[in-house]
Amino acid sequence: MKLMTVCGLIAAAVFTFVSGQSIAADAPFEGRKKCSSCHKAQAQSWKDTAHAKAMESLKPNVKTEAKQKAKLDPAKDYTQDKDCVGCHVDGFGQKGGYTIESPKPMLTGVGCESCHGPGRNFRGDHRKSGQAFEKSGKKTPRKDLAKKGQDFSFEERCSSCHLNYEGSPWKGAKAPYTPFTPEVDAKYTFKFEEMVKNTKAMHEHYKLEGVFDGEPKFKFHDEFQASAKPAKKGKE
Ligand code: HEC
Ligand code: HEC
Ligand code: HEC
Ligand code: HEC
Repeated sequence: MKLMTVCGLIAAAVFTFVSGQSIAADAPFEGRKKCSSCHKAQAQSWKDTAHAKAMESLKPNVKTEAKQKAKLDPAKDYTQDKDCVGCHVDGFGQKGGYTIESPKPMLTGVGCESCHGPGRNFRGDHRKSGQAFEKSGKKTPRKDLAKKGQDFSFEERCSSCHLNYEGSPWKGAKAPYTPFTPEVDAKYTFKFEEMVKNTKAMHEHYKLEGVFDGEPKFKFHDEFQASAKPAKKGKE
């Protein structure tokens, strides 16, 4: 009986831990339509990035040289290959994410949610917080968004695509791996702190009014805001 109680407590503790973690991890993806309608400037800028065009690279006779160098077949269509699409779309294999069977344009390419986190649970709070701020200047803590799955550190997410290969310095690596590793070409070496400031691959930054406040705040947030462009706002 006593043993049973102990086992029960352990089981309860394990369950709480796992389910506590899974709140954020299991937040559903829903695609970039809503994000883009409020954040028009970032969405417009993102469209010109390599991330936005990531599905193009999987088409036949595109990026032939790079594919040859990585021992891939340049004439092959990889757009429906489960060993490829995962890192070229949003939320592959996750709730609400991209599927090969019914591919959604709003989840195609590496979009908002691949970096900011799956949005279904937090984007409604952006609306409410924006309204409260307009009305009374009330700020909302970022930690409320983090609890609902919004990401403010990014590095793990970038790594899960960029550092996912055998022998990677990133501990989480598991197949399917990226064919584009530093061994293929040194230019594929991923250095987070440099890459996250790469203005060709990342969308441009626009001034925020400061609706959200406090930790967790991205470590380069203030730096990005200091040189951000004037805001252009959209309505949902
Ligand atoms: C209804 C409009 C609306 C929608 C939809 C929306 N947002 Fe926002 N978002 C806002 C407002 C308002 C702010 C606060 C802007 C400010 O401080 O000037 C904000 C702030 C942000 C910030 C800055 C957070 C910080 O650290 O201060 C990010 C990043 C962001 N949104 C990403 C997203 C993403 C990704 C999506 C889609 C999953 C999304 N938003 C959907 C209105 C929206
Ligand atoms: C879902 C997977 C995924 C995530 C998450 C991701 N990337 Fe990427 N990234 C890609 C893919 C795929 C490409 C190549 C796109 C193409 O050309 O087809 C790319 C391209 C890039 C490039 C351009 C490389 C070059 O050769 O110019 C940079 C820089 C970059 N990513 C930085 C980042 C950073 C920083 C993060 C995190 C904040 C990030 N990426 C998150 C998949 C991802
Ligand atoms: C684990 C994630 C991952 C998987 C799986 C993956 N890729 Fe990518 N892919 C990336 C990243 C990250 C980049 C960007 C590399 C960079 O420029 O630093 C990329 C870039 C590319 C590029 C552009 C390379 C260049 O130099 O412009 C092509 C083409 C490509 N991938 C094709 C494929 C094909 C085909 C497959 C399947 C056989 C595949 N990828 C599987 C993550 C992945
Ligand atoms: C490759 C990763 C990546 C992708 C894809 C991405 N973002 Fe961001 N985004 C960032 C980073 C990094 C920041 C800087 C965060 C900060 O300063 O707090 C940022 C900042 C923002 C901000 C805050 C204001 C600003 O301009 O800095 C908003 C709003 C935003 N992103 C919306 C979007 C939307 C909408 C999309 C999709 C159309 C998107 N992002 C796609 C990485 C990404």
